[in-house]
Amino acid sequence: MTKARGSLTVRRRKMSSTEDLDYPQLLFQYNNGFLVSKIMFTACELGVFDLLLESEGPLSSDAIAERLGTSASGMERLLDACVGLKLLGVEMKSEGAFYRNTELSNLYLTKSSPKSQYHNLMYYSKTVYLCWHYLTDAVRDGKNQYERAFGVSSKDLFEALYRSEEEMIKFMYGLNAIWSICGRDVIGAFDLSPFTIIYDLGGCAGGLAQECISLYPNSTVTIYDLPKVVQVAKERFVPPEERRITFHEGDFFKDPIPEADLYILARILHDWADDKCMQLLAKIHKACKPGGGVLLVETLLNEDKTGPLETQLYSMNMLVQAEGKERTPAEYSKLLAAAGFREIQVKKTGKLYDAILGRK
Ligand SMILES: C[S@@+](CC[C@H](N)C(=O)[O-])C[C@H]1O[C@@H](n2cnc3c(N)ncnc32)[C@H](O)[C@@H]1O
Repeated sequence: MTKARGSLTVRRRKMSSTEDLDYPQLLFQYNNGFLVSKIMFTACELGVFDLLLESEGPLSSDAIAERLGTSASGMERLLDACVGLKLLGVEMKSEGAFYRNTELSNLYLTKSSPKSQYHNLMYYSKTVYLCWHYLTDAVRDGKNQYERAFGVSSKDLFEALYRSEEEMIKFMYGLNAIWSICGRDVIGAFDLSPFTIIYDLGGCAGGLAQECISLYPNSTVTIYDLPKVVQVAKERFVPPEERRITFHEGDFFKDPIPEADLYILARILHDWADDKCMQLLAKIHKACKPGGGVLLVETLLNEDKTGPLETQLYSMNMLVQAEGKERTPAEYSKLLAAAGFREIQVKKTGKLYDAILGRK
């Protein structure tokens, strides 16, 4: 009986691998992955989803091409491809095809939606995509590719990332977008209400700080970031009437870190190699009030690093774009413990970003 079942399994396995070998569907899908990304980026960039949100009803491809100033032939193919990707719907009328947004594109791909991912997509299209052109070199060299991609030195990571004011602003908008989707989950993963004085180190445009003060009415959050980032955060992202968010200009590696109950490090440690993470965590531990803590917000690899695929992809992105990598819960816990933090707890949110809390 066991033998019979065993041979059936073997036969099934052989069958499916023969099918794959006859017609490697999966490989074709992977091969086309970047074509899919670029179609979505292009429709966003040209304003297809914004136009269809504003229009009273579905529009023909000629009308969309005219309103957006593109060729009719290019637009028709772009719209049809978006239908294939389920980013648009289409109705066939006697006059021809009429296109409309899907719920997904209304919610996430239009600029005006509160959950818009437009800026994240544009950062991928205009910056990340160019770095990935040098992925092979990144693997060969074991380091980021700013010199090849943009002709700038990568000696100071954030000098390279912020190689112009425009790039820095694109980065800030791009990174902030995800917190309208995942912010509440990571900030609510643990009860942070006992911590009232909170520093968001590398808090950037403040998306997570906003989530934090809205969930914890007794908290104040200070965004600690490089001076030019803080300036833009104040001018463009955090409304001045928001008194519970304050700012601190500084370099967390070189300048003092003020005392607080809780330090948030969201997507900070993944930028850096272990020695820099250790240096930063030890400094935070010293500054932290007794009984206080540190909240890491990162995308987590499985302990055996077999997944999740999204995190594996992001770890490759850290190779081309940063100095760090994505890590497992055990790797983060080890860094926290070495800096003196204890009672380390890991919470998976089921979404892209997870939370790890360590106490002093
Ligand atoms: C990958 S971004 C993460 C931003 C934000 N925490 C988030 O998750 O959206 C890294 C942040 O760290 C800031 N940063 C980098 N080096 C820094 C330093 N030496 N001192 C202070 N902030 C720094 C950057 O300006 C940027 O805002």
